[in-house]
Amino acid sequence: MTLAERIAGRIRTGGAITVAEFMAAALQDPEGGYYRRDDPLGRGGDFTTAPEISQMFGEMLGLWCAADWLTAGRPAPFRLVELGPGRGTLMADALRATAHVPGFHAAMRLHLVESSPGLRRCQGALLAPFAPSWHDRLEDVPRGPVWLLANEFLDALPVHQMVRTQAGWRERGVALGPDGALAFTDTLPAPAELVPACDHPPGTVVERRPLGEAVAAETARRIAAEGGGGLFVDYGYAEGQGDTLQAVAEHARVPVLETPGSVDLSAHVAFADIARAARQAGAAAWGPVTQGLFLRGLGIVERADRLAAARPDARAVLAAALHRLIGAGAMGTLFKVLAITPPGAPPPPGFASTEPGAAP
Ligand SMILES: C[S@@+](CC[C@H](N)C(=O)[O-])C[C@H]1O[C@@H](n2cnc3c(N)ncnc32)[C@H](O)[C@@H]1O
Repeated sequence: MTLAERIAGRIRTGGAITVAEFMAAALQDPEGGYYRRDDPLGRGGDFTTAPEISQMFGEMLGLWCAADWLTAGRPAPFRLVELGPGRGTLMADALRATAHVPGFHAAMRLHLVESSPGLRRCQGALLAPFAPSWHDRLEDVPRGPVWLLANEFLDALPVHQMVRTQAGWRERGVALGPDGALAFTDTLPAPAELVPACDHPPGTVVERRPLGEAVAAETARRIAAEGGGGLFVDYGYAEGQGDTLQAVAEHARVPVLETPGSVDLSAHVAFADIARAARQAGAAAWGPVTQGLFLRGLGIVERADRLAAARPDARAVLAAALHRLIGAGAMGTLFKVLAITPPGAPPPPGFASTEPGAAP
């Protein structure tokens, strides 16, 4: 039985499910979920992420951690954590770039939070020399100062969609249409804690991601209590609303409900909600700034020049990768970066022009 048939059976028995429940099943069902199959990423996969475009991305994020660790007084030992490490490429590049930072590797304990058994195998193959530990949840990572990286992790966590109908707020769900196929419905009662604080005109959709906020809060609690820093990189908006749920297969948009488990599902990250959750948990949250601004501030253009000088034959490839990562209209503006630091810490690298904001 396909995952779509099993989801339809669940709806026949128990009624419509929320969009968040649909997304959780489509991505994480132990038998048919998208992230439970072998390597969905990479050049031959459904989509390409920044670390798979160029080594420079992981190098910059690794150097961000090392620079912030030096500013914090080189605590040892510390946890280097990645949420959703994909094929392990980002972390491998980050660790290569930081190999010569005195004491950094010796003090580092590597922890990977990953739900996919296939991707855990990929990560293990690349990162074995650093003896990583794997965890299902951030809560399972042992205590201690923590530097944490998460690229395109939050966008894969389920979203609830609140819909302002003529009759008030409802939660969007997935039901069965007249033909028996999966279909959206705007008839579920909206849980009070997910209803937006201010009203909106009928037709408005507001996405809420309690799991993402919980991850931000847990990151913030750890960093506020024990020191460290965190970076969340994702596509999304600083403020805004709308239906951003999308399905992607073989680098193209496809219908969201048709083939759950075979296609990637994601939704934009509402960075204001993530920042608020982090601040309420006691940390400072910086940004978001655009990925382009952030990577430029860390020196990615100079790094590309050095790589091109060493490999003149690769100059055009490097220029194209650099443009994809920092170009306006490419990932440089669509993707945003949010940093979490202990309260009262100086601006972390790449955030000098921003304010940490205050807890509401
Ligand atoms: C879009 S991929 C990004 C991979 C990688 N960070 C990159 O940039 O290439 C999402 C990653 O998060 C993992 N993931 C998604 N949901 C998860 C969850 N609830 N718990 C742990 N890992 C999860 C996926 O298996 C995958 O490694």
